[in-house]
Amino acid sequence: MKDAVDVSSHRNAVEFADGVYWIGALDPTLRTFDIILSTANGTTYNAYMVKGSEGIAIVDTVKENFSDEFFARLESVADYEDIKVIVLNHLEPDHSGALPELMRRAPQAKLYISRKATPMLKALLKPAKAALEYTTVTTGDSVSLGDRTLRFLHTPFLHWPDTQCTYLEEEEVLFSGDVFGCHFCDKRLFNDRVGDFRFSFEYYYAHIMRPFKSHVLDALKLIEPLTFQQIAPTHGPILREKPRSYVTRYRELSTPSLSREMDSIVQTLIIFYMSSYGNTARMADEISEGAGEVEGVRVSLYDLEGGVIDPFVDLIEDADALLFGSPTINGDAVKPVWDLLSSLAVINIKGKLGGAFGSYGWSGEAVSMIEDRMEGLKMHIPKEGIRIKLIPSDEELEKCRTFGRWIADELVGNHEAIMN
Ligand SMILES: Cc1cc2nc3c(=O)[nH]c(=O)nc-3n(C[C@H](O)[C@H](O)[C@H](O)COP(=O)(O)O)c2cc1C
Ligand SMILES: [Fe+2]
Ligand SMILES: [Fe+2]
Repeated sequence: MKDAVDVSSHRNAVEFADGVYWIGALDPTLRTFDIILSTANGTTYNAYMVKGSEGIAIVDTVKENFSDEFFARLESVADYEDIKVIVLNHLEPDHSGALPELMRRAPQAKLYISRKATPMLKALLKPAKAALEYTTVTTGDSVSLGDRTLRFLHTPFLHWPDTQCTYLEEEEVLFSGDVFGCHFCDKRLFNDRVGDFRFSFEYYYAHIMRPFKSHVLDALKLIEPLTFQQIAPTHGPILREKPRSYVTRYRELSTPSLSREMDSIVQTLIIFYMSSYGNTARMADEISEGAGEVEGVRVSLYDLEGGVIDPFVDLIEDADALLFGSPTINGDAVKPVWDLLSSLAVINIKGKLGGAFGSYGWSGEAVSMIEDRMEGLKMHIPKEGIRIKLIPSDEELEKCRTFGRWIADELVGNHEAIMN
């Protein structure tokens, strides 16, 4: 049976593989991380140490105000003069906070970071800039500690441009940075000991990794072929029981869903609208009809009045095109439209096709405001939206139908086909 631990009762390092130690810090009272994440029982800043026959490596550090705990654990098993290597897998301040002080205490140690981390290192550690020396590494590079070898994996954008993973070959431990991590603080440290942290693992993925799914899939190509005994992320439990199940879960979460795998559906278009007197609703119906005439497009139509944000965000992630319809009310689009458009930070919508439409009484700002927002989100707006004054006439409804058909044709590449 594996030993029980309680790291809240001491400031010692915890050895979890031969010569491999946890030297991190607990932050049990934190309730919000980085403004955006709720943390019901806090988080941990995990840092690690590897002892080799020819020196010691430190992998990641902790948030600056947890430095004392980190250095105390480090000193419980090592002397600073024996530190040969410092690896930073990710330069966000929750992991680089103690780095300047560590470099001051172990000036002989060499720092290894990814190439994309260079500008961040300079920007984050401005006061220490002059003294900074580092080596950039990528997939295939490794560093030896004698009888221990650290191999680097280039896994950018998980969740910053600089991120990488580091693999300890002999003990088959993957130091994965924020990947496979979660904000969950439990003094028992290991996944087979701590409380049920599944919600936290899923929540962390949904808010931190989800916008970068394609990068997750790229990283998994490097990670999946490895054999590992343990995964050691920078937050939350160390994954020593069934570590591969977490890798499998990341693949599931990052793989496009069923709708994409249906052969008959080439492209998906979602039309969201809101309407007080039914004018914008009639426009939405006609646009939907027009789009539906085009082969290979699945059109979905939703009234935001009866909608809930989260399922809509899931749908939008899978959609190829989005149209938003709103009347102009007091010089603005209606709030549910903005609520949905401001909830898309957790997914990647760059390059999706977009458009807007709406009925108005006199000034009609809503359509262009929605278009501006979509452009701000880096969506592609190929055609100016439709504004109709008050009740749409038959002729205007026909315009809506044509607009819908045009959007759908654009989506499946029919316009390009005609031009060629
Ligand atoms: C409280 C209120 C405020 C409005 N403010 C504006 C406005 O600022 N500019 C404008 O062009 N129309 C404004 N309108 C007119 C509506 O945009 C117009 O009635 C429109 O046809 C409603 O479309 P719907 O039936 O799709 O809701 C306003 C209407 C209401 C009820
Ligand atoms: Fe991070
Ligand atoms: Fe982090």
